[in-house]
Amino acid sequence: MKHIYQEGLSGYPTLLLLHGTGGTERDLLPIAETIDPNANILSVRGNVLENGMPRFFKRLAEGVFDQEDLIKQTENLRQFIAEASEQYQFDRDQVIAIGYSNGANIAGSLLFHYENVFKGAILHHPMVPRRDVILPAQNGTPVFIGAGKNDPICSQEESVDLEKILTENGAKVKVHWENNGHQLTQTEVLAAKEWYQEHFR
Ligand code: MLT
Repeated sequence: MKHIYQEGLSGYPTLLLLHGTGGTERDLLPIAETIDPNANILSVRGNVLENGMPRFFKRLAEGVFDQEDLIKQTENLRQFIAEASEQYQFDRDQVIAIGYSNGANIAGSLLFHYENVFKGAILHHPMVPRRDVILPAQNGTPVFIGAGKNDPICSQEESVDLEKILTENGAKVKVHWENNGHQLTQTEVLAAKEWYQEHFR
């Protein structure tokens, strides 16, 4: 997968950056810099194109995911992370995902399909990736969900349901609400940073 890798300081985690629809691997670099300037960065470009816009998996309509492709791309991304950890020599057990929108949805899908896939996850405006699956144990994994009360793409119910499903399976979830829509605001990023510092520094 097309990506950027930036080595951080020794002993720091690796931030896996996953952009929204139409984005690239450059989009979330400033956010990673805010969250933890010392971390390694692995920022990936989604390799599915929708009218020329990169995404991490196909969808049938807005908010309606192609489940077969979602499962396939989730496995591809999991393999890519494992290969990258060998290539760049970072600790596979110290990966913290930061995803926005479509990128948050594939990060959520990784949590829904694989045990201990992330040390933690920051999900900005995610949806419930699948509703028909039994989740692996989340083993206390800290998850930050940033949500907008007026988000037209991802309803309040999606965030509440995602929190419930992850919590029931053993994740430690914090939901941060903004009065905004689907956009990612500075206050939401700063709330994620505060949460990150509580859990990982
Ligand atoms: C998705 O398809 O993942 C969600 O609708 C969010 C988006 O990318 O617009």
